[in-house]
Amino acid sequence: MSSANIIEQAKRSAAFAAVDKHVDSTVRVLGIGSGSTVVYAAERLVQLKKEGKLNPDLLCVPTSFQSKQLIVEAGLRAADLDDLPVLDPESADFSSIDVTIDGADEVDAKLNAIKGGGGAHLREKLVANASRKLVLIADSRKDSETLGTKWDKGIPVEVSPLAWRTIKRQLERMAPLSRAHGLAKAESAAFSFDHPQAVLRQAVRKAGPVVTDNGNFILDVSVGSIYDPLAVEQLIKMVPGVIEVGIFSGMAKEAWFGNEDGSIVCRE
Ligand code: 5RP
Repeated sequence: MSSANIIEQAKRSAAFAAVDKHVDSTVRVLGIGSGSTVVYAAERLVQLKKEGKLNPDLLCVPTSFQSKQLIVEAGLRAADLDDLPVLDPESADFSSIDVTIDGADEVDAKLNAIKGGGGAHLREKLVANASRKLVLIADSRKDSETLGTKWDKGIPVEVSPLAWRTIKRQLERMAPLSRAHGLAKAESAAFSFDHPQAVLRQAVRKAGPVVTDNGNFILDVSVGSIYDPLAVEQLIKMVPGVIEVGIFSGMAKEAWFGNEDGSIVCRE
């Protein structure tokens, strides 16, 4: 098998295992993430549907146009997040989704994640935030001790096209701020670079900026190793014009990684 096929097989094993553990007939509302690994989750959902193992009233909440396509092609019913009632009106929990299964670009030892390689992290975060459980699926290349050490394309940051250059400049001056604001751990910075770099994501062959499903641009912000994901997420979010940051701190409950030898690791 070619190495590309081995990686695809690893993603597929992780996706199938996560769906098998979390999706049964008791699940009424399911969040569907975006990216190439989630395609395999959809494949497994089609099989379970054929076997009559899904809730007949199952609603699936998409996180992108791609994800909506997957839902429709799988013969499942798509629902908009804001049209759903909360699952438990008697409690303080505002979740309207039982479980969301999504991919990731890198996941650290505490299940903090970088997402947005496909530019869908705004809706992915909205859906994750409204879910009782966020379950991540990936091949083992994404399994990391510290964010920023394996994913080398930077933190995806969705920004307003109105001021992307100004936002870029501000993000590139973040290092001194990360210390001055005291957001980082007392003795160190939240990330390793002294000079972060923010690059406007371009379409193939420099055919202009990538435009997200929401009509915005993406800056990929390289900060080196991320020692304090929550601090970095907050620091970037504070910049006016930043719409969403592709750091998901403390959101995931579980991550499944497929290994090249066919085995699967689940971390919780
Ligand atoms: C899209 C995402 C994806 O889930 C992430 O990029 C992983 O994608 P893939 O499964 O193709 O590796 O966050 O915004």
